[in-house]
Amino acid sequence: MSLVLLVGIFVAQSLGTWLWIEQLKDSERKRLIEVSQNMGSRIGQTIQFFTKLPKQYQHIVLDQLRDMGGTRFFVSVNPAHIALPNINQNEFSVLVRDQLQASISAQIGSRANVDIQFVRFNDLKILSGNNRMVDLPPKWKRFALFEPSDQSPIVVVQLSVNESWMYLATPVPSGKVLVGVNWLTTERLISIALVSLTVLILTLFLVRWVVRPLRLLARQAQYIGRGRKPQQLEEQGTREMIATVRAFNSMSKRIQKFINDRERLFAAISHDLKTPLTRARLRAEMLEDETTKAALIGDLENLDAMVKGSLQLVKEGIVHENPLQVNISKMLFELAEKQKIYGLPVNIDLEPNLQLEGRPMALERLFTNLIDNALEYGRAAFIHAWQDQHHLYVDISDPGPGLSDQDKERVFEPYFRIDQKPSTEHSGLGLSIARSIANFHGGELTLKNRPSGGLVVALHFPL
Ligand SMILES: Nc1ncnc2c1ncn2[C@@H]1O[C@H](COP(=O)(O)OP(=O)(O)OP(=O)(O)O)[C@@H](O)[C@H]1O
Ligand SMILES: [Mg+2]
Repeated sequence: MSLVLLVGIFVAQSLGTWLWIEQLKDSERKRLIEVSQNMGSRIGQTIQFFTKLPKQYQHIVLDQLRDMGGTRFFVSVNPAHIALPNINQNEFSVLVRDQLQASISAQIGSRANVDIQFVRFNDLKILSGNNRMVDLPPKWKRFALFEPSDQSPIVVVQLSVNESWMYLATPVPSGKVLVGVNWLTTERLISIALVSLTVLILTLFLVRWVVRPLRLLARQAQYIGRGRKPQQLEEQGTREMIATVRAFNSMSKRIQKFINDRERLFAAISHDLKTPLTRARLRAEMLEDETTKAALIGDLENLDAMVKGSLQLVKEGIVHENPLQVNISKMLFELAEKQKIYGLPVNIDLEPNLQLEGRPMALERLFTNLIDNALEYGRAAFIHAWQDQHHLYVDISDPGPGLSDQDKERVFEPYFRIDQKPSTEHSGLGLSIARSIANFHGGELTLKNRPSGGLVVALHFPL
């Protein structure tokens, strides 16, 4: 979430900065076109003026000009072309050169073969071409150009006129961009960073404000899923969130009431059945017809087992127990040891110290029911428990007859037994209780056939 935000802010800032730089460059381009057109026509006029002067006057005019002191426009006539160390070319210097070329050519006619160079002030050479202007003795300094106040380069135009070279130099006004500028100044970078940070902090606060109640809601929903008593949530956050929390609170209240009602009803029925059953049993004992008596007593015992099973279920009601951290490995090991009393093989393969938050009595009942079944119907039990990052797994398998696909569904129905004969020992509740305990802990119970024959009851719980 925060990463997405960070990337979003970064992209927005980069786009903004890019647009801003493009705008700056654009206005700079426009300004430079105007500036170079002006410069070009001035240079063109000067060239025209000098070339029209008779040769012997040219030097006199130049001397007079120089005697007037430092200048922003340096003109000389040299015997040869002067090679200068040019600044690196960039889009702006190309633009200025093209504009100058065009305006000068327009002034003096296209015959002109004009050489245009851009030089740093400190690299500028004048007169003989051997000396840098900045190294001239003070006496000569008066010939020199004024130094531009910024890093602007000097444009040098040279043109061959009657076996000599006319040389003109002038600074490009505010021409720093020709030398190359750093568009992303430190101040700009700092301001980008500050704006991003502020936006990030504000958004994080906002997101937390929206997400926090949602997270609480999710946790409570998970609690209900695991059969815990849900707490009433505080109504806070956005308007939509308050409405959601209110709906959730009333839903969890209704669920709690429903569970309580169901339990009370179940307990009352099972309890009230006990007395008439005992009475019926006594009456049956008084019957004279032995076969009817035996059949009736059998039925009554079966009914009794069912009632006892239901009562026990309510008494051991999962809901009444407090959740604890349970060491499942220890619990399974102890159960396996207990079950060995029957003399049937119980094998274990347990990862040590598997922990699960749950109700110990209910979990014990769940495992006992399954191990009982394995021993009862498969004559042996194999218990395997392990965990990965998100789940704890328990497999209880046996080498018995297994179950047909149809029966795999039906065995979960309360009181369903494959062996239809009434039994005083088994009520047919074991698996349905086991499954509700597993579900109560947020887990799942599934039945699979073992490839080598027999049944695997596979349990998994979220950690
Ligand atoms: N491991 C198994 N192998 C084969 N059949 C099984 C196995 N476990 C259960 N069954 C079948 O599923 C039926 C329902 O099992 P369940 O544990 O719910 O009830 P029960 O064992 O009959 O009674 P109770 O567990 O209440 O004493 C059993 O009667 C049995 O026919
Ligand atoms: Mg059983």
